[in-house]
Amino acid sequence: MHCTRKITDDLYYVGGSDRRLEKFENLFPIERGVSYNSYLFLDEKTCLLDTVDSSITRLYLENVKHVLSGRKLDYLVVHHMEPDHCANIEEILVRHPETTVVGNDKTFAFIRQFYPDLDLEGRKLVVKEGDVLKLGKHELHFFMAPMVHWPEVMVSYDPYDKVLFSADAFGTFGALNGNLFADEVNFDRDFLDDARRYYTNIVGKYGVQVQMALKKLASVDIQLVCSLHGPVWRKDIAYLMDKYQHWSTYTPEEKGVMIVYGSMYGDNENVAECLATLLSEEGVHDVRVYDASKTTPSVLVSEAFRLSNIVFVTPTYNMTIYPAIEIFVDDLLRMGLKNRTLTLIENGTWAPMANRLLREKLKEPAFRFTPHDLTVRSSLDEEKLKELASLAKEIKESL
Ligand code: FEO
Repeated sequence: MHCTRKITDDLYYVGGSDRRLEKFENLFPIERGVSYNSYLFLDEKTCLLDTVDSSITRLYLENVKHVLSGRKLDYLVVHHMEPDHCANIEEILVRHPETTVVGNDKTFAFIRQFYPDLDLEGRKLVVKEGDVLKLGKHELHFFMAPMVHWPEVMVSYDPYDKVLFSADAFGTFGALNGNLFADEVNFDRDFLDDARRYYTNIVGKYGVQVQMALKKLASVDIQLVCSLHGPVWRKDIAYLMDKYQHWSTYTPEEKGVMIVYGSMYGDNENVAECLATLLSEEGVHDVRVYDASKTTPSVLVSEAFRLSNIVFVTPTYNMTIYPAIEIFVDDLLRMGLKNRTLTLIENGTWAPMANRLLREKLKEPAFRFTPHDLTVRSSLDEEKLKELASLAKEIKESL
């Protein structure tokens, strides 16, 4: 049975949520699911904006049919050709042979690659930066947004309702629970961590490109943001933009410390716990302690984008960095994180070298370091506990 919502007089939500998928992109755990958003204009012309993942095809097709109510479908706009959004192009075109597909040159190149048997001859409209698609009183103005998140990505803007169709930008993990609009939920409580985790892990590498897109849109009056994942924004858009400003410029949202440890037998866990306590005694209360072996790297990456300081507590392992820590570090580097203050603590029963190896990866000026590193031999003793207390003071001063 269909399940849609009206957004404005002429615009409908026809997407849906997936609570079965274990991992988004087969990488990122999504315990709270994810939504695949698609929108449908009913104007003089009808226009469908993107499709959805194949996991919700049945609901999606029922939604589109219900909203169209027998009208023909004039246009299908493809803002992004990743299969979580484009998987139903063919299903739509089979049902609507009258439809013209709208995309840019790269969109159609990707359609040919993903769907080589799909013949769009005579039913495609190629748009470029600044082009306008007239639907009636609504128009879609196209802005290219390459690498937010793939090279063919474009966004569009309807001046009549002041709606930005933002593709992946401003999206979040998390299924919708009937509440389509961000102001219908407690966004900070229900979505912010997932929004940050989505941005930092999916789009985080492309901060420069996100900044270019934000600058292009700076003079546009946006009253509604319709992303391809997560709630629709119709209030507090400045709040959302501010989050993207922080994330895309790799600026910490908060002065705080994440302590990430690898610990085979509990000694480094003990170091992390003691440091957290010492920091609290110093008056630093935004401290989060994470076991790198247990916490999924996507959460660690997200926290690293949120906080100003990262402390690594790392065993030396086969003369290298403990693998769970190294996976996290490599993810940070892949995402281009910078502007963080780091503190290095290593442990080695013999030949400790994790701090040196971490410094070879995490270089200045992208990262700053607190003045002293610490080396623990197997377990904390009274002398090392004093050094740890000094480190806590240095971290506090660096905030
Ligand atoms: Fe939601 Fe880049 O796909």
